[in-house]
Amino acid sequence: MTTSSTGLGTSGRERLCLALDLTDRAEIIKAVEELRDLIGWFKLNSAFTLYGPGLVREILDRDVKVFLDAKLHDIPNTLAGYGDAVTRLGVHLVTLHTGGGSEMMRAAVAAADRTAAELGVQRPKLVGVTLLTSVDRATLNGDLNVPGTVEDEIRRRARLAAEAGLDGVVCAPAEIELIRADLPDDFFYVTPGTRSPGGSGNDHKRTGTHAQALAAGSSLLVVGRRINQAADRRQAAAEVLRELREATA
Ligand code: C5P
Repeated sequence: MTTSSTGLGTSGRERLCLALDLTDRAEIIKAVEELRDLIGWFKLNSAFTLYGPGLVREILDRDVKVFLDAKLHDIPNTLAGYGDAVTRLGVHLVTLHTGGGSEMMRAAVAAADRTAAELGVQRPKLVGVTLLTSVDRATLNGDLNVPGTVEDEIRRRARLAAEAGLDGVVCAPAEIELIRADLPDDFFYVTPGTRSPGGSGNDHKRTGTHAQALAAGSSLLVVGRRINQAADRRQAAAEVLRELREATA
């Protein structure tokens, strides 16, 4: 296996993100404190709704990156407001729905670029959700009234995201292979819900192991319950890092 696209480089820490799917603020901070030398990224969704920018700053103060899984979807003018806000907030990665269309995505990118230039900072990576993994063909063709297969629609939306200036997409490991030929070489692939060999896939339908995700070209692996629910979170994180190292050895 070559290490050019799959190698860990100096550290697996930069490729691993813990989903902070916890509700207690003290426990969230404790998890970041406990794991920040092993894990470089921490993802917020419902905890952001509860604790807001104050929590983001408290996490950023601990020398880690914050992934705000906001899954934004609104009119272009409102997305421009969000593009500005998330850049001011100082987070490193934000998700938005590609289903809002090109103009919506372009508005977010343009506003984030403007604010970043004004503040002299780097803007967050803006990463598109193609189709939620809960959308199957029946939902796509029926509820959404979009013809064709889920795979074709994912490929089409990933291309749309790249053309609109997004930095990457959220996808299942197996989908990277399916879409990467159409996309820029430095496109960023976020893969949630991967698991350890033999571990539970929980409620994920299209899942894979951490090692498979890395081999497929994942840029950032998002892990939640595998670490959050472990009796010893440091040990669980170390095991995931070992699996990643072995995948690139
Ligand atoms: O299953 P696990 O607890 O590892 O999931 C980690 C994170 O991945 C969760 O925060 C969940 O929101 C996210 N996820 C996602 N898309 C999926 C599956 C999980 O964004 N299809």
